[in-house]
Amino acid sequence: MADQVLPFRRYVSASLVALAPSAVALGALCWSGQLAGRPALIAFAGVAVATVFLVRRYLGSLASFARFVSELSDAQEPVMPRLSFAPATEELASAAATLAMGWRRQRASIDNLAASAQAIVDGLPDPLIALDRHRRVVRTNIAARALLGTIAAERDLSMTMRHPELLAAIDGLLETGLDGNFAGYDQTSVEIVLSGVPERDVIVHARRLPRAAADGSLALLVLHDTTALRRAERMRADFVANASHELKTPIAGLAGFIETLRGPAREDVAARDRFLGIMAEQAERMKRLVDDLLMLSRIEQHEHARPAGEVDLGNVLRGVQDLLQLKASARKVAVELDVEPSLPKAVGDYDELTIVFQNLIDNALKYAKPATTVRVTAKPLGDEYLSVAVSDEGDGIPAAHLPRLTERFYRVDNARSRALGGTGLGLAIVKHVVSRHRGRLDIQSVQGKGSTFTVTLPRVER
Ligand SMILES: Nc1ncnc2c1ncn2[C@@H]1O[C@H](COP(=O)(O)OP(=O)(O)OP(=O)(O)O)[C@@H](O)[C@H]1O
Ligand SMILES: [Mg+2]
Repeated sequence: MADQVLPFRRYVSASLVALAPSAVALGALCWSGQLAGRPALIAFAGVAVATVFLVRRYLGSLASFARFVSELSDAQEPVMPRLSFAPATEELASAAATLAMGWRRQRASIDNLAASAQAIVDGLPDPLIALDRHRRVVRTNIAARALLGTIAAERDLSMTMRHPELLAAIDGLLETGLDGNFAGYDQTSVEIVLSGVPERDVIVHARRLPRAAADGSLALLVLHDTTALRRAERMRADFVANASHELKTPIAGLAGFIETLRGPAREDVAARDRFLGIMAEQAERMKRLVDDLLMLSRIEQHEHARPAGEVDLGNVLRGVQDLLQLKASARKVAVELDVEPSLPKAVGDYDELTIVFQNLIDNALKYAKPATTVRVTAKPLGDEYLSVAVSDEGDGIPAAHLPRLTERFYRVDNARSRALGGTGLGLAIVKHVVSRHRGRLDIQSVQGKGSTFTVTLPRVER
């Protein structure tokens, strides 16, 4: 260890104190005549040199010890000094080093605990915000930052969420009475709408902790995004209303005809035959509707399970072409298949893919202009997919309708679709089957020219 620069005054005073007993003893010997003045002076000079030397080394050791302890408290790991002229200080220094090591270990475990607490909070799937007693943000997790963007830390919550009803509810939670105790409720929930694109419905569950945590957190807010749930609720309600509405018309028709056949037309053979024909049509329509609804619900139930069969799409398309041949001839529309000869097989379910292309080609035939051609082109798409495009030369679909076309019961022209016997469920079925196959449906349409529905499906590996 480098020699310490000792404060001169301390050095002198320590040396004088150490020399004092020898000076007194030698003085007494001289005074009593047992020691002559000269040898006494020589002895004092010798003692003084040795004392000054020893004091200097001793004070140096003490200064090294002091420096060692101060370095330890700065959380450094200093080298233990050699304190041979002050053995007691050496023991003290090693005790201080052990103490400092204990502190360091404790501090590391506290840091670890804090990091694990944040890791747990970050691992929560729901957004979480912790507030202190003054409504300031103390802690947030990753989900909260993903939902709300940057959250001003250590600032009032109103800097991040400006919802008066939420802020009022939290104020109620943190409110204290004159005695300093909390005066309000200890948990509450508030529904808010977060602006942005898209808007989000969120329920904020706020709860006050029994006492403030070490970081000052007193209230925890957990945000629950209910957008999807709300949308599903709305869709379910719309769906029930639509399905009932679709069934109501043919049922009302049937009831009316039954009434007529029982009454005024009882003996009218010609009217009876005509009415029975219409009734059969209505029954057929209801059957189609129920069949489509059942199919939709069956596909939805299995939508998470991807089909694993290998399907030759050429076969599927030829089968559908045969099936719709009569309809095509009746509408004087030609169906032209263009299947690449080396088309790899698709990964999927034969029957479900038949339903997909039956729906798409049926639509193309329905909405094509007479004496035109419906083209069906199947080809590989990169190494992983293949695509089948069904194009017609019909009136096309206005762009505004395209995003909603695959919704249940959505029709561009209600009257026309119904007149053509459509239930409005065909494309919804197509969308669900394609999504179960982990494929994609793209719709392109130019008004006045026609539409192209392209299905992309995964292919089997080579
Ligand atoms: N090729 C097309 N050309 C023009 N419009 C189309 C075409 N395909 C679908 N549409 C429009 O999309 C709507 C929804 O089609 P979808 O197949 O779901 O129902 P649909 O054909 O009316 O009835 P169905 O359930 O019997 O198929 C149709 O009503 C029609 O307005
Ligand atoms: Mg259809």
